[in-house]
Amino acid sequence: MAITIAILSQKGGTGKTTLTRSLADGLTRAGLNTLAIDSDPQGNLSEYFGVPAEAYPTLGEVLAGREKAMDSIHNAVIPANLGLAEAELMLAGKIGRELTLRSALRDPKRHYDVILIDCPPTLGLLTVNALVAADRAILSTEAEHFSEQGAEQAIEVIGLAKENLNPDLELLGIMLNIADMRTRHAQTTLEMLRDEFGDLVFDTVIRPSIVYPESARAGKPIYEYRKPKAIDYARLTVEVLERLGLDGPLESAKETVSELEPGKR
Ligand SMILES: Nc1ncnc2c1ncn2[C@@H]1O[C@H](COP(=O)(O)OP(=O)(O)OP(=O)(O)O)[C@@H](O)[C@H]1O
Ligand SMILES: [Mg+2]
Repeated sequence: MAITIAILSQKGGTGKTTLTRSLADGLTRAGLNTLAIDSDPQGNLSEYFGVPAEAYPTLGEVLAGREKAMDSIHNAVIPANLGLAEAELMLAGKIGRELTLRSALRDPKRHYDVILIDCPPTLGLLTVNALVAADRAILSTEAEHFSEQGAEQAIEVIGLAKENLNPDLELLGIMLNIADMRTRHAQTTLEMLRDEFGDLVFDTVIRPSIVYPESARAGKPIYEYRKPKAIDYARLTVEVLERLGLDGPLESAKETVSELEPGKR
């Protein structure tokens, strides 16, 4: 059975999609059969996987019950487009509306080791569906004022999903994303997050780099696009595998980190 991880944040542009793409690549390289789900009508993750906007079927058809999830996989992603916004509206009026993605993923869960779900920038029905389908959640947060409050809100939503709909859901970790640790501002944010959330905060901080938007535009993961820059997400992959207790793939992910470590390239 796949471990399913929802990737979310309390607001837009905190690097969720980049995290999903990079982690999917890291886990695949570590030997895990990984499926990504684009649960955002913006379709950014689909694009990052090189899936054309007109691809069919998409998550919208899956949630509408018109297509099966297993028949909607293109390049290891179930893609999304604006049709997903329509599917979300339609879902809103249905009984069991929060459980639709969970049911739809029953088959893929049998075929994959890990499923990553990229959430939209709102804590609405699509994000709730992701949290109900998931075993774990990763929170992506940027270095800015009120980061801790934002993280608290997202954790509250995770708590609500756990309490009411998915008792097995656990927060895997909080990641400080797009943060330049040479700045006082980023240092303060990290300290505040660690004070508030302790070990839940990943040791790895993802540094800002122009190669991320470039690689997204090229539709290639960072390891393929500019290998030396893959070190941050390679480290994060190790931490994720440690927290999941997946020892075999962990060894392989550690090898990738040593391969990429400065001085060895
Ligand atoms: N470490 C990074 N350094 C610099 N830019 C980054 C980094 N990570 C992501 N970006 C860029 O920042 C922008 C937002 O990132 P991304 O799309 O991953 O965020 P998101 O949280 O998924 O956004 P949305 O809420 O709109 O879905 C994109 O242009 C992306 O390429
Ligand atoms: Mg996104």
